[in-house]
Amino acid sequence: MNPEIISDRFKREFGRAPELLVRAPGRINVIGEHTDYNEGLVLPGAIDRAIYFAVSARDDQRLELVAADINDRYSGTLSVLAPSEKQWPDYLLGVFSELQAAGYTHQGVDLVFGGDIPSGAGMSSSAAIETGLLFALNQMFALGLFRQDLVKLAQLAENNFVGMQCGIMDMFASVMGRDERVIRLDCRTLEFDYFPVDNSQYAFVLCNSGVKHALVNSEYNTRRMECEEGVALLTEQYPAVYSLRDVSLEQLEAAHPFLPDPIYQRCWYVINEIERVEKACTALEHSNYGALGELMYQSHEGLQHDYEVSCRELDFLVAQARQQPYVLGARMMGGGFGGCSINLVEKEGVDAFQQTMKKAYQADFGIDMQCYAVSIGEGVGEVD
Ligand code: GLA
Repeated sequence: MNPEIISDRFKREFGRAPELLVRAPGRINVIGEHTDYNEGLVLPGAIDRAIYFAVSARDDQRLELVAADINDRYSGTLSVLAPSEKQWPDYLLGVFSELQAAGYTHQGVDLVFGGDIPSGAGMSSSAAIETGLLFALNQMFALGLFRQDLVKLAQLAENNFVGMQCGIMDMFASVMGRDERVIRLDCRTLEFDYFPVDNSQYAFVLCNSGVKHALVNSEYNTRRMECEEGVALLTEQYPAVYSLRDVSLEQLEAAHPFLPDPIYQRCWYVINEIERVEKACTALEHSNYGALGELMYQSHEGLQHDYEVSCRELDFLVAQARQQPYVLGARMMGGGFGGCSINLVEKEGVDAFQQTMKKAYQADFGIDMQCYAVSIGEGVGEVD
């Protein structure tokens, strides 16, 4: 799906051209996994895969929402916003609901959306749906929201309406992304910097495991609770501690006797991972891609053994990648239990890498794996 297809579909559905065409990208995360909700650091970037929206305002309160990718339609009204049985509308309805809760009023809309972010692959198609709609409504109804407001409202929509207690990383990357730059975001203060990535020599290649184990949401929420429990226990030792961001490895070691397993392991992983983001930024500043790759491998080890959010398929992909020439680093990406691995690959080896990985995955899991060499691009905006 591209913007022309979405726009044409809008004309067919509603008999006129859309007022506005919006592009909202998915994201990768180079390193810093499960650190966002621990007030830590992350290093994501927006990518060249996106959800497109064709939208027009209506003069009543109705919502006519068309999901072009799956050929489905939701008809409703702004005055009754309740989770839908179909689920896909919830990502949109959640946005309308959060805007209302924040006191913004506007008319209904006719809308068609669709794109080329594979769903369930951990590239944050849901965040893109939320940020894209928010951007469109903000433009069309002159709501006066700043980019950072879009980020926060999108996260609230996901937390409150969809019921996924995600952190802020995905929405932030989708809104604040820049061409050829990754974002170091401090999830405590929301301060951020951009770091250039060398697109000419290296590429980030995603390998889509094609699986999404049922545990994704429940285990995600469990990890959040385990981290909170860790913080509560650590605060008894160190009253100044409010989040895992405040804890040094030395403090954690000293408090080990008070932390049962697996709480200790979870904290150990998070504190190390935050440190790895710092190191990764230094590596990028020095164009030391070897060091960056090594940190990615370490991140995977932690996610696999200490945070325990990986799965057989992802471990296989990372182990295979390690054996390939041209590969500098690899790890699972996103929440875990499926989705993609992210691989840092020398550009000249990208094709060979993809072929070998596909073959190996087919042989072991019988799955025709999709690979995506992504480039890092701009955040949400109008389509020219
Ligand atoms: C999911 C969530 C993010 C983040 C990652 C793990 O993608 O939506 O907020 O917590 O998992 O890093």
